[in-house]
Amino acid sequence: MSKVRIAHLVKKKQAGEKITAITAYDASFSKLFADQGVDVMLIGDSLGMVLHGDDTTLGVTVEDIAYHTRAVRNGAGNAFVIADMPFMSYSTPIDAAYNAAELMRAGANMVKLEGGAWLTETVAHLTQQGIPVCAHLGLLPQQVHIIGGYRIQGRDPEQADQLIQEGLQLQAAGAQLLVVECIPSALGQRFSEALDIPVIGIGAGPGTDGQILVMHDMLGMNADYLPKFTRNFLAETNSLAGAVQAYVNAVKSGTFPGPEQSFD
Ligand code: KIV
Repeated sequence: MSKVRIAHLVKKKQAGEKITAITAYDASFSKLFADQGVDVMLIGDSLGMVLHGDDTTLGVTVEDIAYHTRAVRNGAGNAFVIADMPFMSYSTPIDAAYNAAELMRAGANMVKLEGGAWLTETVAHLTQQGIPVCAHLGLLPQQVHIIGGYRIQGRDPEQADQLIQEGLQLQAAGAQLLVVECIPSALGQRFSEALDIPVIGIGAGPGTDGQILVMHDMLGMNADYLPKFTRNFLAETNSLAGAVQAYVNAVKSGTFPGPEQSFD
């Protein structure tokens, strides 16, 4: 596989080929994922929950993400690497550029920010400085205390229309990729159809241009809780490489997510 670049992801969208993505936090797993042909790896601020054991992502710092980005980059081979910008690291365009530069220096190809229309100026500022941006709409875990929990977003038709508008505004500002989280399948499909940039879903149904999962979820590592939108691929295959290959195959063939992992 040649080096994955944003242009390849756009071509995949245009050709109707699904994009495969997964979170990664260290070099050993990123090598395993790269060996199985995963297109995109995200150093998610989910690391606050799955690595540190916190209840939310709010305790994660830019230094944490930079540290794990360096490690992931070392194993990621030709995969496209996205680093999450943590809580309050992009509250102004200037702060965003300063902190995003740290993550790009650590080896990221792109940074991801959670939020809608209020971020258009920041997205434009980052892209003007040469920092590619992935936007993130739907459930925004950094806003958990405002939302009042990890809830499905966009069920109300007005909120759904507003989310699509915000996606278009972020795309116009320069965002080159969009993650949509925990929204009804019909809205996930609408996002893919309305936007030219690739749309990667998590809990957003089968109609998005690609899928991402938190690696600990797809390996079923929390025995007490498997989120509805994931599948325990390790239990199905009994080997780490087999689990990742099964995930990649299921995303590419459109068999994951099925109706049982999707929201109405
Ligand atoms: O932090 C993270 O892992 C994420 C994914 C859930 C998309 O943002």
